[in-house]
Amino acid sequence: MSLGSDDLQTSLLQHATPDVTLRRSGSCAVAEWITSVKARLRSSKNLRSKLIALVILVVVTVILIMYTCLSCGGGTQCAGICSFSSLKPMKLKADDEVTCNSTEKAFIGKNPAKRLPQAIIFGVRKAGTRALLEFLGLHPDIVVNVVEQHFFSNDVNYSKGLEYYREQMPASYEQQITIEKTPKYFIDIMAPERIYRMNHSVKLILILRDPVVRLFSDYAQLVAKNKENNITYPPLEEMVLDENGEVNLDYKLVQVSVYYKHIIHWLEFFDLHQIHIVDGDKLIIDPYYEIYEAEKFLGVGHKIQRDIFFFNKTKGFYCVRQCTSSTSPPCLGETKGRQHPPVDKKLVEKLRTFFEDKNEKFFQLIHRSFNWTTLIV
Ligand code: A3P
Repeated sequence: MSLGSDDLQTSLLQHATPDVTLRRSGSCAVAEWITSVKARLRSSKNLRSKLIALVILVVVTVILIMYTCLSCGGGTQCAGICSFSSLKPMKLKADDEVTCNSTEKAFIGKNPAKRLPQAIIFGVRKAGTRALLEFLGLHPDIVVNVVEQHFFSNDVNYSKGLEYYREQMPASYEQQITIEKTPKYFIDIMAPERIYRMNHSVKLILILRDPVVRLFSDYAQLVAKNKENNITYPPLEEMVLDENGEVNLDYKLVQVSVYYKHIIHWLEFFDLHQIHIVDGDKLIIDPYYEIYEAEKFLGVGHKIQRDIFFFNKTKGFYCVRQCTSSTSPPCLGETKGRQHPPVDKKLVEKLRTFFEDKNEKFFQLIHRSFNWTTLIV
Protein backbone atom coordinates (compact mmCIF):
# COMPACT_ATOMS: atom_id res chain seq x y z
CA MET A 1 0.00 0.00 0.00
CA SER A 2 2.50 2.68 1.11
CA LEU A 3 5.57 3.58 -0.82
CA GLY A 4 9.02 3.43 0.79
CA SER A 5 10.84 6.71 1.25
CA ASP A 6 13.49 5.92 -1.43
CA ASP A 7 10.88 4.84 -3.99
CA LEU A 8 8.99 8.03 -3.36
CA GLN A 9 12.02 10.21 -3.92
CA THR A 10 12.95 8.40 -7.15
CA SER A 11 9.40 8.67 -8.40
CA LEU A 12 9.19 12.36 -7.66
CA LEU A 13 12.55 13.05 -9.23
CA GLN A 14 11.48 11.19 -12.36
CA HIS A 15 8.15 12.93 -12.67
CA ALA A 16 9.46 16.35 -11.85
CA THR A 17 11.88 16.47 -14.82
CA PRO A 18 12.91 20.11 -15.13
CA ASP A 19 12.52 20.37 -18.96
CA VAL A 20 10.90 23.80 -18.79
CA THR A 21 13.12 25.20 -16.10
CA LEU A 22 16.28 23.84 -17.76
CA ARG A 23 15.37 25.65 -20.91
CA ARG A 24 15.64 28.74 -18.78
CA SER A 25 19.28 29.34 -18.39
CA GLY A 26 21.43 29.59 -15.29
CA SER A 27 21.76 28.29 -11.75
CA CYS A 28 18.69 30.21 -10.64
CA ALA A 29 16.41 27.84 -12.56
CA VAL A 30 18.16 24.78 -11.09
CA ALA A 31 17.81 26.19 -7.59
CA GLU A 32 14.11 26.81 -8.20
CA TRP A 33 13.70 23.28 -9.42
CA ILE A 34 15.46 21.82 -6.34
CA THR A 35 13.26 23.91 -4.04
CA SER A 36 10.08 22.69 -5.75
CA VAL A 37 11.21 19.03 -5.50
CA LYS A 38 11.97 19.49 -1.79
CA ALA A 39 8.50 20.98 -1.23
CA ARG A 40 6.87 18.06 -3.00
CA LEU A 41 8.91 15.62 -0.95
CA ARG A 42 7.84 17.38 2.23
CA SER A 43 4.15 17.28 1.28
CA SER A 44 4.40 13.59 0.33
CA LYS A 45 5.86 12.85 3.78
CA ASN A 46 2.81 14.58 5.31
CA LEU A 47 0.56 12.43 3.15
CA ARG A 48 2.31 9.27 4.36
CA SER A 49 1.97 10.32 8.01
CA LYS A 50 -1.72 11.00 7.44
CA LEU A 51 -2.16 7.57 5.87
CA ILE A 52 -0.44 5.88 8.82
CA ALA A 53 -2.57 7.86 11.30
CA LEU A 54 -5.72 6.85 9.41
CA VAL A 55 -4.78 3.17 9.48
CA ILE A 56 -4.09 3.36 13.23
CA LEU A 57 -7.44 5.08 13.78
CA VAL A 58 -9.32 2.39 11.87
CA VAL A 59 -7.56 -0.42 13.76
CA VAL A 60 -8.26 1.22 17.15
CA THR A 61 -11.93 1.76 16.22
CA VAL A 62 -12.37 -1.89 15.17
CA ILE A 63 -10.75 -3.09 18.42
CA LEU A 64 -13.01 -0.79 20.44
CA ILE A 65 -16.18 -2.00 18.69
CA MET A 66 -15.21 -5.65 19.18
CA TYR A 67 -14.45 -5.05 22.86
CA THR A 68 -17.77 -3.24 23.44
CA CYS A 69 -19.79 -5.94 21.67
CA LEU A 70 -18.09 -8.79 23.48
CA SER A 71 -18.54 -7.21 26.86
CA CYS A 72 -22.24 -6.51 26.29
CA GLY A 73 -22.88 -10.08 25.17
CA GLY A 74 -23.30 -9.52 21.46
CA GLY A 75 -26.93 -10.38 21.91
CA THR A 76 -30.07 -8.46 21.29
CA GLN A 77 -29.39 -6.19 24.20
CA CYS A 78 -26.51 -4.67 22.24
CA ALA A 79 -27.63 -2.06 19.84
CA GLY A 80 -27.07 -2.00 16.06
CA ILE A 81 -23.56 -2.97 15.05
CA CYS A 82 -23.18 -5.40 17.95
CA SER A 83 -26.09 -7.60 16.95
CA PHE A 84 -24.07 -9.96 14.78
CA SER A 85 -24.33 -13.49 16.05
CA SER A 86 -20.69 -14.47 15.53
CA LEU A 87 -19.76 -12.39 18.54
CA LYS A 88 -22.28 -14.01 20.88
CA PRO A 89 -20.56 -15.67 23.82
CA MET A 90 -21.35 -19.35 24.19
CA LYS A 91 -21.45 -19.24 27.97
CA LEU A 92 -23.80 -17.40 30.27
CA LYS A 93 -22.18 -14.54 32.08
CA ALA A 94 -21.67 -15.25 35.73
CA ASP A 95 -22.11 -13.15 38.78
CA ASP A 96 -23.72 -9.83 39.44
CA GLU A 97 -23.25 -8.17 36.08
CA VAL A 98 -26.47 -6.35 35.53
CA THR A 99 -27.12 -4.95 32.11
CA CYS A 100 -30.33 -4.08 30.33
CA ASN A 101 -32.41 -7.15 29.58
CA SER A 102 -33.30 -8.10 26.04
CA THR A 103 -36.98 -8.72 26.66
CA GLU A 104 -38.27 -5.25 27.39
CA LYS A 105 -42.04 -5.25 27.72
CA ALA A 106 -43.68 -3.60 24.75
CA PHE A 107 -46.70 -1.88 26.22
CA ILE A 108 -48.33 -1.28 22.91
CA GLY A 109 -51.55 -2.98 22.04
CA LYS A 110 -55.26 -2.79 21.54
CA ASN A 111 -58.06 -2.70 24.07
CA PRO A 112 -56.39 -2.65 27.47
CA ALA A 113 -58.68 -4.41 29.93
CA LYS A 114 -58.70 -6.77 32.87
CA ARG A 115 -59.18 -10.28 31.57
CA LEU A 116 -59.76 -13.66 33.14
CA PRO A 117 -56.54 -15.68 33.09
CA GLN A 118 -56.01 -17.87 30.05
CA ALA A 119 -53.35 -19.80 31.95
CA ILE A 120 -53.01 -20.80 35.59
CA ILE A 121 -49.98 -22.04 37.52
CA PHE A 122 -51.81 -24.31 39.94
CA GLY A 123 -48.98 -25.77 42.00
CA VAL A 124 -47.13 -27.21 43.65
CA ARG A 125 -46.03 -25.09 46.60
CA LYS A 126 -42.27 -24.78 47.23
CA ALA A 127 -41.46 -26.18 43.79
CA GLY A 128 -40.47 -22.84 42.27
CA THR A 129 -43.89 -21.36 41.48
CA ARG A 130 -42.71 -17.77 42.12
CA ALA A 131 -39.59 -18.09 39.99
CA LEU A 132 -41.66 -19.57 37.18
CA LEU A 133 -44.24 -16.79 37.34
CA GLU A 134 -41.62 -14.03 37.49
CA PHE A 135 -39.63 -15.47 34.60
CA LEU A 136 -42.72 -15.90 32.42
CA GLY A 137 -43.67 -12.33 33.25
CA LEU A 138 -40.60 -11.20 31.30
CA HIS A 139 -42.39 -12.12 28.10
CA PRO A 140 -43.90 -9.11 26.32
CA ASP A 141 -47.08 -11.06 25.56
CA ILE A 142 -47.59 -12.33 29.08
CA VAL A 143 -49.08 -10.39 31.98
CA VAL A 144 -48.79 -12.03 35.38
CA ASN A 145 -50.83 -11.55 38.50
CA VAL A 146 -48.23 -11.26 41.23
CA VAL A 147 -50.78 -11.80 43.99
CA GLU A 148 -51.96 -15.33 44.73
CA GLN A 149 -55.72 -15.06 44.44
CA HIS A 150 -56.89 -18.25 46.21
CA PHE A 151 -60.11 -17.79 44.29
CA PHE A 152 -60.95 -21.36 43.31
CA SER A 153 -59.66 -22.81 46.58
CA ASN A 154 -61.50 -20.54 48.97
CA ASP A 155 -65.29 -20.70 49.30
CA VAL A 156 -65.64 -17.10 50.43
CA ASN A 157 -63.59 -15.78 47.52
CA TYR A 158 -65.31 -18.08 45.05
CA SER A 159 -68.74 -16.94 46.17
CA LYS A 160 -67.81 -13.41 45.06
CA GLY A 161 -68.12 -14.57 41.47
CA LEU A 162 -66.03 -14.47 38.30
CA GLU A 163 -66.53 -10.75 37.82
CA TYR A 164 -64.78 -10.16 41.14
CA TYR A 165 -62.00 -12.53 40.07
CA ARG A 166 -61.59 -10.69 36.76
CA GLU A 167 -61.31 -7.40 38.65
CA GLN A 168 -58.33 -8.78 40.55
CA MET A 169 -56.38 -9.30 37.34
CA PRO A 170 -53.83 -6.82 35.98
CA ALA A 171 -54.80 -5.02 32.78
CA SER A 172 -53.63 -6.62 29.56
CA TYR A 173 -53.81 -5.93 25.85
CA GLU A 174 -55.70 -8.05 23.39
CA GLN A 175 -52.63 -9.96 22.18
CA GLN A 176 -51.39 -10.69 25.70
CA ILE A 177 -52.28 -13.59 27.94
CA THR A 178 -52.88 -13.26 31.66
CA ILE A 179 -51.44 -15.80 34.09
CA GLU A 180 -52.50 -16.32 37.67
CA LYS A 181 -50.71 -18.58 40.14
CA THR A 182 -52.02 -20.05 43.34
CA PRO A 183 -50.11 -23.19 44.40
CA LYS A 184 -52.91 -24.18 46.76
CA TYR A 185 -55.16 -25.06 43.82
CA PHE A 186 -53.19 -28.28 43.24
CA ILE A 187 -54.25 -29.82 46.53
CA ASP A 188 -57.74 -28.34 46.62
CA ILE A 189 -60.54 -30.75 45.85
CA MET A 190 -62.87 -28.08 44.42
CA ALA A 191 -60.38 -26.14 42.31
CA PRO A 192 -60.30 -28.39 39.20
CA GLU A 193 -64.04 -28.32 38.66
CA ARG A 194 -64.33 -24.62 39.38
CA ILE A 195 -61.55 -23.77 36.96
CA TYR A 196 -63.12 -26.06 34.36
CA ARG A 197 -66.40 -24.15 34.72
CA MET A 198 -64.62 -20.84 34.18
CA ASN A 199 -62.86 -22.03 31.04
CA HIS A 200 -62.60 -25.66 30.04
CA SER A 201 -59.79 -24.92 27.60
CA VAL A 202 -57.65 -22.98 30.06
CA LYS A 203 -53.92 -23.76 29.94
CA LEU A 204 -52.67 -25.30 33.16
CA ILE A 205 -49.10 -25.26 34.38
CA LEU A 206 -47.84 -27.48 37.17
CA ILE A 207 -44.32 -27.11 38.48
CA LEU A 208 -42.96 -30.08 40.41
CA ARG A 209 -39.99 -30.82 42.55
CA ASP A 210 -38.57 -33.92 44.12
CA PRO A 211 -41.32 -34.58 46.75
CA VAL A 212 -38.81 -35.14 49.56
CA VAL A 213 -36.93 -31.92 48.83
CA ARG A 214 -40.25 -30.14 48.48
CA LEU A 215 -41.19 -31.36 51.93
CA PHE A 216 -37.92 -30.05 53.39
CA SER A 217 -38.45 -26.72 51.68
CA ASP A 218 -41.98 -26.48 53.04
CA TYR A 219 -40.69 -27.35 56.50
CA ALA A 220 -37.93 -24.74 56.28
CA GLN A 221 -40.59 -22.17 55.44
CA LEU A 222 -42.73 -23.15 58.43
CA VAL A 223 -39.73 -22.92 60.74
CA ALA A 224 -38.87 -19.47 59.38
CA LYS A 225 -42.45 -18.17 59.61
CA ASN A 226 -42.82 -19.40 63.18
CA LYS A 227 -39.49 -17.87 64.11
CA GLU A 228 -40.79 -14.50 62.92
CA ASN A 229 -43.42 -14.83 65.66
CA ASN A 230 -40.92 -16.09 68.21
CA ILE A 231 -42.35 -19.61 68.05
CA THR A 232 -40.07 -22.62 67.90
CA TYR A 233 -41.47 -25.11 65.40
CA PRO A 234 -40.92 -28.79 66.38
CA PRO A 235 -38.05 -30.74 64.80
CA LEU A 236 -38.76 -32.31 61.41
CA GLU A 237 -38.45 -35.87 62.67
CA GLU A 238 -41.13 -35.23 65.27
CA MET A 239 -43.54 -33.93 62.66
CA VAL A 240 -42.85 -36.30 59.82
CA LEU A 241 -42.90 -39.60 61.76
CA ASP A 242 -45.73 -41.04 63.81
CA GLU A 243 -45.44 -42.74 67.21
CA ASN A 244 -44.48 -46.01 65.49
CA GLY A 245 -41.67 -44.36 63.59
CA GLU A 246 -43.54 -44.56 60.29
CA VAL A 247 -44.00 -41.67 57.89
CA ASN A 248 -46.96 -39.69 59.12
CA LEU A 249 -49.50 -39.35 56.34
CA ASP A 250 -51.56 -37.02 58.49
CA TYR A 251 -48.86 -34.41 58.35
CA LYS A 252 -49.95 -31.83 55.79
CA LEU A 253 -46.47 -31.43 54.34
CA VAL A 254 -46.29 -35.13 53.58
CA GLN A 255 -49.77 -35.07 52.05
CA VAL A 256 -48.86 -32.29 49.64
CA SER A 257 -45.94 -34.32 48.31
CA VAL A 258 -48.10 -37.32 47.44
CA TYR A 259 -48.65 -35.93 43.97
CA TYR A 260 -50.72 -38.72 42.46
CA LYS A 261 -53.56 -38.19 44.95
CA HIS A 262 -53.96 -34.60 43.78
CA ILE A 263 -53.45 -34.95 40.06
CA ILE A 264 -56.25 -37.55 39.90
CA HIS A 265 -58.80 -34.82 40.56
CA TRP A 266 -57.40 -32.65 37.78
CA LEU A 267 -57.44 -35.47 35.28
CA GLU A 268 -61.16 -35.91 35.92
CA PHE A 269 -61.71 -32.56 34.25
CA PHE A 270 -58.72 -31.87 32.05
CA ASP A 271 -56.81 -33.75 29.38
CA LEU A 272 -53.17 -34.35 30.08
CA HIS A 273 -52.21 -32.27 27.03
CA GLN A 274 -53.83 -29.28 28.73
CA ILE A 275 -51.43 -29.56 31.65
CA HIS A 276 -47.84 -28.51 31.12
CA ILE A 277 -45.42 -29.88 33.68
CA VAL A 278 -42.36 -27.85 34.58
CA ASP A 279 -39.41 -29.59 36.20
CA GLY A 280 -38.75 -27.40 39.24
CA ASP A 281 -35.38 -29.01 39.98
CA LYS A 282 -34.30 -28.17 36.44
CA LEU A 283 -35.70 -24.64 36.63
CA ILE A 284 -33.13 -24.00 39.36
CA ILE A 285 -30.15 -25.08 37.27
CA ASP A 286 -31.35 -24.17 33.75
CA PRO A 287 -34.21 -21.67 33.84
CA TYR A 288 -33.90 -20.86 30.13
CA TYR A 289 -34.81 -24.38 29.02
CA GLU A 290 -37.89 -24.67 31.23
CA ILE A 291 -39.10 -21.20 30.28
CA TYR A 292 -38.59 -21.97 26.60
CA GLU A 293 -40.76 -25.09 26.96
CA ALA A 294 -43.42 -23.07 28.78
CA GLU A 295 -43.40 -20.42 26.04
CA LYS A 296 -44.05 -23.19 23.51
CA PHE A 297 -46.92 -24.57 25.56
CA LEU A 298 -48.49 -21.13 25.97
CA GLY A 299 -48.09 -20.42 22.26
CA VAL A 300 -46.65 -16.99 22.87
CA GLY A 301 -43.56 -17.22 20.68
CA HIS A 302 -40.01 -17.49 21.85
CA LYS A 303 -39.00 -14.13 23.33
CA ILE A 304 -37.20 -14.89 26.59
CA GLN A 305 -33.54 -15.21 25.64
CA ARG A 306 -30.92 -17.27 27.41
CA ASP A 307 -28.74 -14.24 28.17
CA ILE A 308 -31.49 -12.64 30.26
CA PHE A 309 -30.57 -15.03 33.08
CA PHE A 310 -27.33 -14.81 35.01
CA PHE A 311 -26.12 -16.90 37.90
CA ASN A 312 -25.76 -14.87 41.08
CA LYS A 313 -23.13 -16.48 43.28
CA THR A 314 -24.30 -14.63 46.38
CA LYS A 315 -27.89 -15.76 45.95
CA GLY A 316 -26.91 -19.18 44.66
CA PHE A 317 -29.64 -19.00 42.04
CA TYR A 318 -30.27 -17.57 38.61
CA CYS A 319 -31.48 -13.99 38.53
CA VAL A 320 -32.63 -11.68 35.75
CA ARG A 321 -30.67 -8.92 34.06
CA GLN A 322 -32.44 -5.63 34.56
CA CYS A 323 -32.93 -2.46 32.56
CA THR A 324 -32.21 0.80 34.32
CA SER A 325 -35.93 1.58 33.92
CA SER A 326 -36.89 -1.58 35.80
CA THR A 327 -37.96 -1.26 39.41
CA SER A 328 -38.02 -4.94 40.31
CA PRO A 329 -34.88 -6.47 41.87
CA PRO A 330 -32.91 -8.94 39.72
CA CYS A 331 -33.18 -11.85 42.18
CA LEU A 332 -36.10 -13.34 44.09
CA GLY A 333 -36.41 -12.31 47.74
CA GLU A 334 -34.87 -14.03 50.71
CA THR A 335 -37.91 -16.25 51.28
CA LYS A 336 -36.94 -18.05 48.06
CA GLY A 337 -33.82 -20.14 48.27
CA ARG A 338 -33.71 -20.75 52.00
CA GLN A 339 -31.16 -22.92 53.72
CA HIS A 340 -32.82 -26.28 54.49
CA PRO A 341 -32.37 -27.81 57.94
CA PRO A 342 -29.86 -30.65 58.22
CA VAL A 343 -31.71 -33.97 58.01
CA ASP A 344 -30.62 -37.32 59.35
CA LYS A 345 -29.62 -39.75 56.57
CA LYS A 346 -31.89 -42.48 57.90
CA LEU A 347 -34.88 -40.16 57.79
CA VAL A 348 -34.06 -39.23 54.21
CA GLU A 349 -33.92 -42.91 53.28
CA LYS A 350 -37.21 -43.59 55.05
CA LEU A 351 -38.89 -40.78 53.15
CA ARG A 352 -37.39 -41.93 49.85
CA THR A 353 -38.77 -45.41 50.36
CA PHE A 354 -42.12 -44.04 51.43
CA PHE A 355 -42.50 -41.95 48.30
CA GLU A 356 -41.18 -44.51 45.83
CA ASP A 357 -44.45 -46.26 44.96
CA LYS A 358 -46.42 -43.03 45.23
CA ASN A 359 -44.12 -41.38 42.72
CA GLU A 360 -44.47 -44.38 40.42
CA LYS A 361 -48.27 -44.05 40.48
CA PHE A 362 -47.89 -40.39 39.66
CA PHE A 363 -45.54 -41.08 36.72
CA GLN A 364 -48.06 -43.49 35.26
CA LEU A 365 -50.80 -40.91 35.45
CA ILE A 366 -48.78 -38.17 33.77
CA HIS A 367 -46.99 -40.45 31.27
CA ARG A 368 -43.65 -39.06 32.30
CA SER A 369 -41.07 -39.82 34.94
CA PHE A 370 -38.57 -37.82 36.97
CA ASN A 371 -35.29 -38.77 38.54
CA TRP A 372 -36.28 -38.24 42.15
CA THR A 373 -33.81 -40.67 43.61
CA THR A 374 -30.70 -38.52 43.84
CA LEU A 375 -31.35 -36.12 46.60
CA ILE A 376 -30.24 -32.54 46.20
CA VAL A 377 -31.42 -30.89 49.39
P1 A3P B 1 -36.16 -23.16 48.72
O1 A3P B 1 -36.43 -21.86 49.38
O2 A3P B 1 -36.48 -24.31 49.55
O3 A3P B 1 -34.76 -23.26 48.16
P2 A3P B 1 -42.14 -21.39 45.62
O4 A3P B 1 -41.93 -20.13 44.87
O5 A3P B 1 -43.10 -22.31 44.95
O6 A3P B 1 -42.43 -21.16 47.07
O7 A3P B 1 -40.77 -22.18 45.59
C1 A3P B 1 -39.63 -21.74 46.27
C2 A3P B 1 -38.45 -22.47 45.71
O8 A3P B 1 -38.15 -21.97 44.41
C3 A3P B 1 -37.18 -22.26 46.48
O9 A3P B 1 -37.13 -23.26 47.47
C4 A3P B 1 -36.09 -22.41 45.44
O10 A3P B 1 -35.36 -23.59 45.57
C5 A3P B 1 -36.85 -22.44 44.13
N1 A3P B 1 -36.29 -21.61 43.06
C6 A3P B 1 -36.26 -21.95 41.75
N2 A3P B 1 -35.65 -21.02 41.03
C7 A3P B 1 -35.30 -20.04 41.88
C8 A3P B 1 -34.62 -18.80 41.71
N3 A3P B 1 -34.20 -18.42 40.51
N4 A3P B 1 -34.40 -18.03 42.79
C9 A3P B 1 -34.81 -18.45 44.02
N5 A3P B 1 -35.48 -19.62 44.23
C10 A3P B 1 -35.72 -20.41 43.19
